[in-house]
Amino acid sequence: MTSKPDINLISPETFAATGHPWEQYAWLRKNAPVYWHDEPNGPGFWAITKYEDVRTISRLPKVFSSYETSVMLPDPDPMGLYAQRLMMLNMDPPQHDRFKLLVSRGFTPKNAPLLRPKIEELARDIVDAVLAKGECDFVTEIAGRLPSGLIAELMGMPRADGERLYDLTEIMHTNDDAIAPPEIKMNAVGEMLGYAQSVADLKRQSPADDLATILVNAEVNGDHLTDEEFQWFFLLLVNAGGDTTRNLLAAGLQLLFDHPDQRTKLMGDLDGLLGSAVEEMLRYCSPVTHFKRTVMQDTVVGGQSIKAGERVVMFYGSANRDEDIFENADTFDVARHPNPHVAFGAGGPHLCLGMHVARVELAVMFRELLTRMPHIEAGGPIERMHSSFIAGVHRMPIKY
Ligand code: HEM
Repeated sequence: MTSKPDINLISPETFAATGHPWEQYAWLRKNAPVYWHDEPNGPGFWAITKYEDVRTISRLPKVFSSYETSVMLPDPDPMGLYAQRLMMLNMDPPQHDRFKLLVSRGFTPKNAPLLRPKIEELARDIVDAVLAKGECDFVTEIAGRLPSGLIAELMGMPRADGERLYDLTEIMHTNDDAIAPPEIKMNAVGEMLGYAQSVADLKRQSPADDLATILVNAEVNGDHLTDEEFQWFFLLLVNAGGDTTRNLLAAGLQLLFDHPDQRTKLMGDLDGLLGSAVEEMLRYCSPVTHFKRTVMQDTVVGGQSIKAGERVVMFYGSANRDEDIFENADTFDVARHPNPHVAFGAGGPHLCLGMHVARVELAVMFRELLTRMPHIEAGGPIERMHSSFIAGVHRMPIKY
């Protein structure tokens, strides 16, 4: 490709049309891997599209801060920034170390396999509920119900409440004002925080064997989470674990529709290939499109000088197609090995806390789908989410 495409990595339309702007990414990696990107109502940022640069930035929190202006685009206003900073995603060490110590008991690699039987039961119930119909909307009736059911299970609350929280997440992640105006978003945040507080109160009164009880009681050297910190961590968990998993399920299934040869290969050796297929879906779809960092001292990234105070934005979908790292990077290969993708982040302190749980959820649901709905197929055109932050699917009719 020689001619420069129009570069716009922040318009929800770009992502709604194609999932990710693959053509722009490819041009940027080749011609301008650290590219100055204007923002209509913000200071602009350096768009980072090469794998190694994403890795370097993720691992140097002293130079590339998550706290300074948060990791979200656009920069939040002062009130928004105050709220964002209550979530570990927008903290720097040592504050982040303290927080991670308090919450990590619920998220060790050992815990995730323990959840497997519950996740299997949940996946079975979800598929049971729609099986006889022969057709449904995959996103709302199957994919979205897994993370919302799991968060309900983890927090020890009714499944129906998990689904309501899930609807709130989708409102918060839509960055299209016509669909979710600011006051609707604020109300969604308020409702979720209020719900979180009711969970904290309940678990203090009646402790149970669940993550919420672990979190409200967690103590390290006399330190514990305040009510406000619990509320915002709850919101982060619901948001970070919901849209991402749902969208990977939907986009991953679409990949199997689009690549019948890979689907046949996977079905022929489900036990052997399911793990690598899930990793390849993560690489190929990259549900989280980007996170931002603010540069704290003059530095150089990929040969480009960057001044203190400027922002860098890492595009995970592009890093995951970097031809210097991945052989035949644009090929979807369910047996790809090795596959050091950065869909969960590229290392460093903020690497996805829920990645072990997410991997179990994804593998369990794909096994359930491919064994109980072996003839599953598209039932109409998909409708993508209007978000440049989450590459996702809003509606996806299927037949089976
Ligand atoms: C397909 C599923 C998922 C994807 C693609 C994903 C992706 C990510 C990414 C890219 C980050 C930021 C990494 C960084 O800045 O280095 C992150 C952070 C995080 N994720 Fe996930 N995630 C997924 C599922 C989950 C689940 C299921 C949970 C919880 C149950 C979760 C909880 C979190 C939390 C709490 C953080 C913040 C960690 C920190 O700041 O230290 N995620 N995730």
